[in-house]
Amino acid sequence: MVSSFLLIIFFILFSSFLIHVHSSSSLSPNHRQALEISIGIGSGGEGGGGGGGGGESGESEACQCTASPPEIPPQPQPQPQPRPLVFLDERLAVVFPVIQRFKNLITSDPYNVTSTWVGSNVCSYKGFYCESPPDNSSALSMASVDFNGYKLRAPSLVGFIDSLPDIALFHANTNEFGGLIPSNISNLRYLYELDLSNNKFTGAFPTAVFGIKSLTFFDLRFNSFNGLVPSQIFAQPLDVLFINNNNFLQTLPQNLGSTTSFYLTLANNKFNGPIPRSIGKASKTLVEVLFLNNELSGCLPYEIGYLKEATVFDASSNCITGPLPCSFGCLAKMEILNFAGNLLYGVIPEVVCALGNLANLTLSDNYFTGVGPLCKKLIQSGVLDVRMNCIHGLENQRSIAECAMFFAHVKICPFFPTFSLIPCQISHNGWGENSNKSSPGTGGSGYYTRKRSKPSRAPSPTYSALLRHRL
Ligand SMILES: *[C@@H]1O[C@H](CO)[C@@H](O)[C@H](O)[C@H]1NC(C)=O
Ligand SMILES: *[C@@H]1O[C@H](CO)[C@@H](O)[C@H](O)[C@H]1NC(C)=O
Ligand SMILES: *[C@@H]1O[C@H](CO)[C@@H](O)[C@H](O)[C@H]1NC(C)=O
Ligand SMILES: *[C@@H]1O[C@H](CO)[C@@H](O)[C@H](O)[C@H]1NC(C)=O
Ligand SMILES: *[C@@H]1O[C@H](CO)[C@@H](O)[C@H](O)[C@H]1NC(C)=O
Repeated sequence: MVSSFLLIIFFILFSSFLIHVHSSSSLSPNHRQALEISIGIGSGGEGGGGGGGGGESGESEACQCTASPPEIPPQPQPQPQPRPLVFLDERLAVVFPVIQRFKNLITSDPYNVTSTWVGSNVCSYKGFYCESPPDNSSALSMASVDFNGYKLRAPSLVGFIDSLPDIALFHANTNEFGGLIPSNISNLRYLYELDLSNNKFTGAFPTAVFGIKSLTFFDLRFNSFNGLVPSQIFAQPLDVLFINNNNFLQTLPQNLGSTTSFYLTLANNKFNGPIPRSIGKASKTLVEVLFLNNELSGCLPYEIGYLKEATVFDASSNCITGPLPCSFGCLAKMEILNFAGNLLYGVIPEVVCALGNLANLTLSDNYFTGVGPLCKKLIQSGVLDVRMNCIHGLENQRSIAECAMFFAHVKICPFFPTFSLIPCQISHNGWGENSNKSSPGTGGSGYYTRKRSKPSRAPSPTYSALLRHRL
């Protein structure tokens, strides 16, 4: 069957050759191509589509063939050549080898993500997203990488993230990346979200990020970075800074309040020393701040009371001492205020309990000694937790001996008069600036029912930063 088919094809070809040999000196390109294709079929895939040289010698080969018509001249076995890759954009051609190199570095891929990283359409690879770059609306570039939760393991990101020149978002929560953060990521002109959370990074704070002018979201939480957090990070124009759950050990930098971040999470490290007074400078921006579970000491600066945009302030589980500043009565938007597990003492200021938006005031495990009527109402409504303090007449308090021991060695705060300062206008018709209570002194007012009827809150961004895995 096959050989008679070959024979027919051959004679058709041969006769057309003879005509051409007589009429023109060389084969036209079209005919040469036709020949290549025919021989390709005839040789039954042997040598694949690579009959490259077949038609080159046109005339003479055709003459040789006349000597033994049924046989196809033996051809050099050409290597099957990979189909040339065609890219949607030259910028994608540039990142293709970068991705393939990185793929080869990956030693664990439990969800088989990298099995999709084949072919020239890099925009269809799992975890990669293409978009038009800002500098050329008709181009297409690798704009974001989202590996959140893929559990990929690679010893380093060097040669990868720094070699995706148009990258704007890099999200890699819950992977096993390690090594150093490449220092020249500072040249990445569009990078604005860098999430390296819950990986295996160690060593010093990645100072390369200071050069990234576009960066607004920076998340290093749940790694093993150690040493110092350079003060420059608080001068960086960030919106979000999550560096919780690392091993940073240092006194909080004095310029902390220069931060432009709305969300600042330094929790679960070994920061020590007092909360810097400069924090008041962040009054226009700071919305949520988490200092919890560090080794902070000293007294609370009354400047915290300037944070008029703040809704969450949590410095629980530290060693902060002194009274609660009355300036906290200016925190008109505050919803969650948590200083549990410190060494605070004094009377809980009524102006704080009067805050109109307060949903959770946790002051347990301190050494407070008194509460007024407004605070007592908050205790009844479950908003204020003062268990394990030294408040006479309340249940679940520390023993008299324990309290006596504490007050025998109590630390007096510097700037003591500032603790009674109230740097805002507080209306006496209901204390808190924004509050609008019908009758603050009487039980069962709309104030508390409003608190209770508050729908279950969406988790705050900073508190969700305390979870290892991005939601
Ligand atoms: C991963 O992909 C390879 C190749 O596509 C396939 O053979 C394998 O079964 C896949 N494994 C899992 C766990 O999906
Ligand atoms: C914009 O991108 C397109 C597509 O890649 C390209 O052909 C064009 O030359 C680029 N224009 C400029 C000004 O770089
Ligand atoms: C960083 O350095 C690597 C290797 O030296 C280079 O390939 C890459 O393009 C550089 N990246 C940037 C953003 O400058
Ligand atoms: C207040 O916050 C603490 C600490 O996060 C939490 O344990 C407690 O359940 C909260 N109380 C209310 C009433 O939401
Ligand atoms: C207080 O409540 C009253 C009645 O609900 C309302 O008319 C008034 O505008 C409120 N004032 C403020 C400052 O919210």
